Amino acid sequence: MNFQWYPGHMTKAKRQMQEDIKLIDIVVEIVDARIPVSSKNPDIDELAKNKYRLIIFNKIDLADPKETAKWENYYKEKGFHTIQVNSKSGLGMKNVTGVIQEACKEKIERDRKRGILNRPIRAMIVGIPNVGKSTFINSFVKKACAKTGNKPGVTKGKQWIRMNKNIELLDTPGILWPKFEDQRVGLRLAFIGSIKEEILNITELSMELIDFLCHNYSSILTQRYGVDETRNKAEILEEIAVNRQCRLKGNQIDYDKAAGILMDEFRNGKLGAITLEFVNKEEKANSETV
Ligand code: G4P
Repeated sequence: MNFQWYPGHMTKAKRQMQEDIKLIDIVVEIVDARIPVSSKNPDIDELAKNKYRLIIFNKIDLADPKETAKWENYYKEKGFHTIQVNSKSGLGMKNVTGVIQEACKEKIERDRKRGILNRPIRAMIVGIPNVGKSTFINSFVKKACAKTGNKPGVTKGKQWIRMNKNIELLDTPGILWPKFEDQRVGLRLAFIGSIKEEILNITELSMELIDFLCHNYSSILTQRYGVDETRNKAEILEEIAVNRQCRLKGNQIDYDKAAGILMDEFRNGKLGAITLEFVNKEEKANSETV
């Protein structure tokens, strides 16, 4: 399967981000907890050098909690501050302000020594499409307002949302681009539904997912669809189709429909909380490619 990304968009997004990053203290990067590597782009490390960094693991309701904890440690060891949230339900949101302040404590202390008090920290949200940037910002703003009873203030000029007396947020998030050169990244983004369906072969995609699940989350497919996981991926898809009565006219098996059901149920968490990337395997794969 081939995935495309248009360089024009990338250049513009990068230029805009370079400008915006000059104005802020901390880059708050949102990743999808199911794919903490594929939903990142290492270019941000260069763009955000000399800035404080926070990684937000979003959509924790859909990811395997054991694996999310391992990924949090992994990034902490690399010097990032981290936090886990579900921006949709609001879980973990109340801790965000504290973590941002903790990440910027050196600067706050430096300001204090110079007699500068109450200068808010300026933050910017970044992330690839669909990781939940807008949902996060909405939830963060709502939390801040619920606490203070105020409406968020918008400062003149650049659009800064005043969250509370300590933090101002740039109102438009920075959009990063995925690393499409790596086909594994493309596949994982396709699994979670971040690539347009029109350019995908859904049946092929679902068979890749079946393969992944049988190897890494054995018995999940058996529990949900009553399939025999010792069979090959095409046979398993066929079993799903039969068990879910996916038939075309003339009683032929409708593989596309079964594939659609599997992908939907995976994406909305009906198969359970599943992570697609594992710390040990990623480290091994990277050391092999370097
Ligand atoms: P973006 O700005 O980064 O592009 O992402 P956006 O906020 O638009 O979110 C993308 C999708 O992810 C949305 O679903 C949103 O509801 C969902 N989402 C965001 N945060 C979470 C989370 O913590 N958990 C879960 N389960 N989902 C989350 P959608 O289907 O596009 O829209 P909707 O039908 O949910 O409104």
